[in-house]
Amino acid sequence: MNTITKYSVSSMLIHWTMALIILSMLFLGLSMVQSLAVWQVEAIQLHKSFGVLALILVAIRLINKVLYKSPALPQSVHKAQALAAHLTQLGLYASMILVPISGWLMQSADERSVSFFGIFTLPDLVSKNIETYAFFREAHGLIAYAFLLFIFMHVSAALYHGLIKQDGVLGSMLPGKYK
Ligand code: HEM
Repeated sequence: MNTITKYSVSSMLIHWTMALIILSMLFLGLSMVQSLAVWQVEAIQLHKSFGVLALILVAIRLINKVLYKSPALPQSVHKAQALAAHLTQLGLYASMILVPISGWLMQSADERSVSFFGIFTLPDLVSKNIETYAFFREAHGLIAYAFLLFIFMHVSAALYHGLIKQDGVLGSMLPGKYK
């Protein structure tokens, strides 16, 4: 039986770092495409570098998930709720992987280099093609919107557990003795 009540310190660190990066990236991405001002050029470079960081972190997160067990949901959680939680988690992981990869594919299809804070440049994944570019540009935006929806569901559920049920689910991802 799984008796773990808290996530590991490494899981908490990765979770909160990624939450901060992803939320900033979603809002930076959305504001970037609304403007043609000079800051947009700088913003796109930052967006790409942090996007690559998010991709590296999701790889580390998956390894960490295999190494450290996650706490089980409390018995009081209904089967339908547990299924919804698992499906949301699946959507979150799929988005964490597909959003940065579609961004990388989009930039590759237009031969726009993807640099990681000027330290190294990623190789192009596909050859230059305007239709491929348009496809991945559309996909990047659409999956990002789905990502926002999954995040909304995830945060709502976490707050419901933490503020109303007080069953330890929210506290399992927080340091200290919070419920
Ligand atoms: C966690 C990672 C990422 C998130 C959450 C994210 C999110 C977004 C969002 C919400 C938009 C606006 C989409 C729209 O409304 O059409 C956007 C645009 C963009 N993203 Fe990302 N992105 C991520 C990673 C990346 C990566 C890794 C790259 C490239 C290597 C990239 C390149 C771009 C570019 C170039 C645009 C502007 C598209 C255009 O209008 O030309 N993104 N991103």
